[in-house]
Amino acid sequence: MRKNIVAGNWKMNTTYQDGLALVSEITNMVQDEVTGPNGVEVVICPPFPFLAAIGKQLPTNSRFHLGAQNCSQKESGAYTGEVSAKMLQSVGCEYVILGHSERRQYFREDDELLSQKLKAVLAAGLKPIFCVGESLETREADDTFNFISKQLKDGLFHLSNEEFDQVVIAYEPIWAIGTGKTATSAQAQEVHAFIREQIARAYDAEAALNTTILYGGSANAQNARELFSQPDVDGGLIGGASLKSRDFTEIIKSF
Ligand code: G3P
Repeated sequence: MRKNIVAGNWKMNTTYQDGLALVSEITNMVQDEVTGPNGVEVVICPPFPFLAAIGKQLPTNSRFHLGAQNCSQKESGAYTGEVSAKMLQSVGCEYVILGHSERRQYFREDDELLSQKLKAVLAAGLKPIFCVGESLETREADDTFNFISKQLKDGLFHLSNEEFDQVVIAYEPIWAIGTGKTATSAQAQEVHAFIREQIARAYDAEAALNTTILYGGSANAQNARELFSQPDVDGGLIGGASLKSRDFTEIIKSF
């Protein structure tokens, strides 16, 4: 089901106290935008240790949702340090970010591992926010579409129609993440439209129309409105700006 979503990926930032204070500021600053009939869905993705406490602070019966930044492909067992999808579900998570470029780069997450993680997330009844995006070298080589197409095919398109219905896609050009070099709205629209075309080919036109596709990569209070005005951009996956309540709430108000 296609929705307008603004998701905050806090990455490895804040502390327990600061995180609670941040989410309290955010929820106090946007009431109408996330409770009205056409409200924006807001997903807060804090680090693992704060999930339960922050989840308890999100207003019930609103469009605030709790998300995690990763999870294990394993269901349970002797995997020291790992966190399962079932554990995330048990503390109130509804979304899980998978395939973020930082996990692919720093933690060597490949398509095989990601397909197992996808399976675990879906089996726990959670919604994956599946990230794709090209490097600067790929873009400069004019190979973006081939690269994104391969990420979708190898990472996502093995899912059944019913499974795919649960997926949110985030297009995050690596060269825009944390750099301040945001993709132009035309660049974002072009790739989002391409992703929708690939979904139509892999599944059908209805699946393509119903898929939520978020943009991520230096989205902020100044550029969100133009980005979100693009026909195939359904919101944002926000990093740095999600750690500042004023900026993040301005982004939520940008539809
Ligand atoms: O997952 C969102 C993130 O990668 C974008 O980061 O700081 O460029 O908004 P940022």
